[in-house]
Amino acid sequence: MKIAVLVSGSGSNLQALIDDGIAIDAVVSNVAGAGALDRAAAAGIDSAVFEQSAYADRAARDTALAEWLEARGIGLVVLAGYMHLLTDPFLQRFGGRIVNVHPSLLPAFPGAHAPADALAYGVRWTGATVHLVTAEHAAADTGPIILQEPVALRHDDTVETLHRRIQTAEHALLPRAVRLLLEGRVAVVVGSRKVTIDVPEDLWGED
Ligand code: GRF
Repeated sequence: MKIAVLVSGSGSNLQALIDDGIAIDAVVSNVAGAGALDRAAAAGIDSAVFEQSAYADRAARDTALAEWLEARGIGLVVLAGYMHLLTDPFLQRFGGRIVNVHPSLLPAFPGAHAPADALAYGVRWTGATVHLVTAEHAAADTGPIILQEPVALRHDDTVETLHRRIQTAEHALLPRAVRLLLEGRVAVVVGSRKVTIDVPEDLWGED
């Protein structure tokens, strides 16, 4: 299955996928000059930039982006630090074939500031989540959960130290989740009204 990775930032999660040996067909950024584009170039992966400012609205940009991916035969879209909410035209085409990595144990702390929010709340544990994005789960950081990894907070954590440890967890979790999908071990179940996933027993936790 052909894979595209959507990015906005430094691309350390993209790098984790590359280092894991997962074949990536395209990298797309909504930010020109994002560090992730350099990582794509270094790995010889085609990339493109779809900046919001070049389009009339979000829907127009997302339609162009979806058509670009469809023209390349992309079957799975990985959101690796992609910091824009995808709109309906994109979700109607790729919903259920999109995975997102998020720096918290969802459903706690969705949004763009998850490590800071966890620190401010004073939780003892947060972590990383990889989940499916479907057309029914258009809200940010919602959708059936594939894998999660807890990360303990330390008494002297700053947002930076905490986020660094969460990212270490993300870098292990994201390639693992993508492989599970590619191998068909986590099945995406398309029902008449919603998309769910079937996660095998050995991926559930034990006491
Ligand atoms: C990651 O922590 C991701 O979960 C969050 O933004 C960060 C992106 O980092 N949404 P990178 O671009 O993969 O280095």
